[in-house]
Amino acid sequence: MLSERARGIKPSATLAIDTKAKELKAQGIDVVGFGAGEPDFDTPDNIKHAAIDAINRGFTKYMPVDGIPDLKDAIIEKFKRDNGIEYARDEIIVSVGAKHALFNIALAMVDPGDEVIIPTPYWVSYPEMFAVAGGKPVFVKTSEQDNFALKPEAVEKAITKKTKVLVINSPGNPSGAVYPRKVLEEIAEVVKKRNIFVVTDDIYEKLIYDGEKFFTIAQAKDMKPHTLLVHGVSKTYAMTGWRIGFTAGPKDIIKGMKNIQSQSTSNPTSIAMKASVEALKGPQDSVTKMVAEFDRRRKFIVEGLNRIDGIKCITPKGAFYAFPNVSALYGRKFKGKAIGDSFGFADYLLDHAKVALVPGAPFGAEEHVRLSYAISLEMIGKGLERIDQAVKMLE
Ligand SMILES: Cc1ncc(COP(=O)(O)O)c(C=O)c1O
Repeated sequence: MLSERARGIKPSATLAIDTKAKELKAQGIDVVGFGAGEPDFDTPDNIKHAAIDAINRGFTKYMPVDGIPDLKDAIIEKFKRDNGIEYARDEIIVSVGAKHALFNIALAMVDPGDEVIIPTPYWVSYPEMFAVAGGKPVFVKTSEQDNFALKPEAVEKAITKKTKVLVINSPGNPSGAVYPRKVLEEIAEVVKKRNIFVVTDDIYEKLIYDGEKFFTIAQAKDMKPHTLLVHGVSKTYAMTGWRIGFTAGPKDIIKGMKNIQSQSTSNPTSIAMKASVEALKGPQDSVTKMVAEFDRRRKFIVEGLNRIDGIKCITPKGAFYAFPNVSALYGRKFKGKAIGDSFGFADYLLDHAKVALVPGAPFGAEEHVRLSYAISLEMIGKGLERIDQAVKMLE
């Protein structure tokens, strides 16, 4: 019955731990959950009111497939203001979340056999999305020493005649890595020389710390025609459930995405688009407050993790994830049974410390685990205490 495509796609490997954590919670067991990939803050009131107002005004019909003009204009304004890049309306498409935007890109750009370079560690969905389109993921490892930023020479080495796309995600999930401007400019030179495209997923742009300056590869010299820039409101404005993401790029590719979208979802939800206009154009103080709170938690969690024997965590410069190396604990035993890998460590913590975190293997980084700090300081403290105790129980 099932197509080869459906049989080939991997279900989210991170879901198994999540399901187990939810089962424990449902039994009334107090689990500290570091799994969340979304801000724990509520969507700001001004944004909610814009949506309520849209409903009351009957803004509830079919809309242009690629987004309403006022949202496109707000997006154009955002890219000009924040990134110094000028786009026209036909270089923008609004989709049902950044995930949908990326999926459309995969379908619009990749033919069977085309190669897609994906730096490791990667967000779990990239390889699967491009594989659905028949693309072949080519993984290029990044290292902790380079703060998980891709080396330009590694990109050059990975490019073949079949390479179509390079994926960049900065700040990155799961590592929190922020690519330095210089590195991106060097990668841009390779991309132009070898005439490939970059898909840059800038969804965490605003969640950046330590005075780091955000730079997108789309800003590098002459890179606009080579770049599909993916963004959205989910993370910046605590709007994960509203499902609005967008892409800026060359108009023939945007048109291809629009055609695909016209035969699948049609327009993104009308009222969520109106809310997103307010998010992008309205007051930004809620973003500043959220980033300050994430920053407090970031410092707290990194410090706490590094105090635990066998855990090493570099300080992430962006997003809301800590990505410690826990491989020194592999081989240590609990009641005679050794922790073998990142799944083993995550399982052990869930069973014996009632702490849920995400193993690194599904992100292509077996030595690591991912902890989201989109939970309160108090919960982070409680979770760290439990991890420390559980690690002390290992022989
Ligand atoms: C790197 C990255 N890109 C895209 C997304 C998806 O964003 P959206 O909610 O807009 O679909 C996520 C969500 O976890 C993410 O981590």
